[in-house]
Parts: sequence; C-alpha cells; structure tokens
Amino acid sequence: MDEVRKEMRSRWNTDGWKYDSAEAHGIHDAGERTQWLDMLSPLPKETRILDVGTGTGFVALIAAEAGLRVTGLDWSETMLDQAKAKAAAQNLSVVFEQGTLENLPFAENSFDALTARHLLWTLLDPVEVFRQWFKVLKPEGRVFADYSPRKGSAHIGHHYREDIEEKLPLNRDVPASEIERLFREAGFSDISFISRKKEVKHGDHAHIHDVFIFTCVKK
Ligand SMILES: C[S@@+](CC[C@H](N)C(=O)[O-])C[C@H]1O[C@@H](n2cnc3c(N)ncnc32)[C@H](O)[C@@H]1O
Repeated sequence: MDEVRKEMRSRWNTDGWKYDSAEAHGIHDAGERTQWLDMLSPLPKETRILDVGTGTGFVALIAAEAGLRVTGLDWSETMLDQAKAKAAAQNLSVVFEQGTLENLPFAENSFDALTARHLLWTLLDPVEVFRQWFKVLKPEGRVFADYSPRKGSAHIGHHYREDIEEKLPLNRDVPASEIERLFREAGFSDISFISRKKEVKHGDHAHIHDVFIFTCVKK
C-alpha cells in the first residue's frame, strides 16, 4: 500500500471510534435505514452480498437483517471491531474481512450484489475500484452505491489531511452524470439512480444535501 493510502487508513484507525456518534454519518437515521432495508429486502434470500468500506456495518447489518448472506470488507480494524460488536449484540450473522478496495481478496464472480454507502467520496481512483467490483460480481450482479455531492469547501480536512482530500475526485460537487460515466468506464450497464434530500446537522447549522443512490449491473 502506498504512503497516501496508509495515511488514509490510519485516520479511520485513530478517529473511527467516533464515527457512529457524528450526526452527519446518519447511523441513527431511521429514514435512511428504511430506505436501504426496502432496497435490499426484495433480493432473494440466497443472495451473496458484499458491503465494501463497511465501516461500522450500517448496510451490512441491514442486509443481514433482510436475511441475505453478507460479507463486509474494510481496511480499518477500528471500524471492523465496532461492526463485529454490533453484529454480535444484534445476533446477526455477517462475515467481516479486512482488505483493500484496490485489491479485493475475493475470487471473480463471487457475489450477487454489492453495496457501498458513504464511500465514493473517499476514493482516490474510482474507476480502478469500480473495476474490482465488476470483477468480484457474478454476471447480472448489481451494485447499490450512494453519493452526495459535496458543496463548498467546509468539509475539506474533516476526515483526511487537507492535501489528501483535495486529491479525491468525488470529494466535490460532481454531477450524477459523471458518476454514471465512471461506472460505464468500469464496464457496468443499466446505470440509474434515485435521489432524495437529506438534512444534515453540523453543530448549530443544518444543511440540505442531495443524496443519489446509484444502481448498475454487470452484464
Ligand atoms: C465514510 S466510511 C463509510 C462506512 C459505512 N459504509 C457507512 O455507511 O457508515 C468509509 C469507510 O471506508 C473504508 N475505506 C475507505 N477507503 C478504503 C479502501 N481503499 N479500502 C478499504 N476500506 C476503505 C474506511 O475505513 C471507512 O470505514
């Protein structure tokens, strides 16, 4: 792993203990939870699903609750430790694995579906990562990934060092059409999205954000 990615991972290992308590992360947002549950519940029970950048397991645990066979992957022990503790507390079965998105530790054609929440903005090279998703999905496998365009510069430096955040191509106000183009470049088809507004509080201020949830298919 290169130095930039090592620095990125170390931020999740040191600051990750606070992740679930920050309102902007939506871990306790009932509306968002319902939206993911409604999206995943119609999938057949034998579906093997990979939640990439699973963090503290928000989507992985919802997928397990929906009865799916879930693997959650993250590069940070701090995040995975919390995800594992939450799964145990809720008596839900999820396989959590440590690994990097740039080199997924799974065979080709392993999963029927893949989820990625609050992740796209963190990617240094989105197409490289999307190609890995394409590889591990089975034919007809589907991606569910959310994206919230980041307006202004107030968020810069919140998670990563400022110079690193400026290197992240989706850590800005990117239109949905550009995300679609990146999925297409990685080989995906049938790309579409739904959008909604979300209120996020930062201290005393509340901002309305657009949230897009993309789906696309490996044909
Ligand atoms: C913003 S958090 C999102 C966590 C979770 N998906 C959620 O919805 O709350 C991003 C997560 O992606 C992980 N991550 C970021 N880049 C990664 C990479 N290149 N390889 C593996 N995990 C990565 C981080 O460790 C972190 O847990």
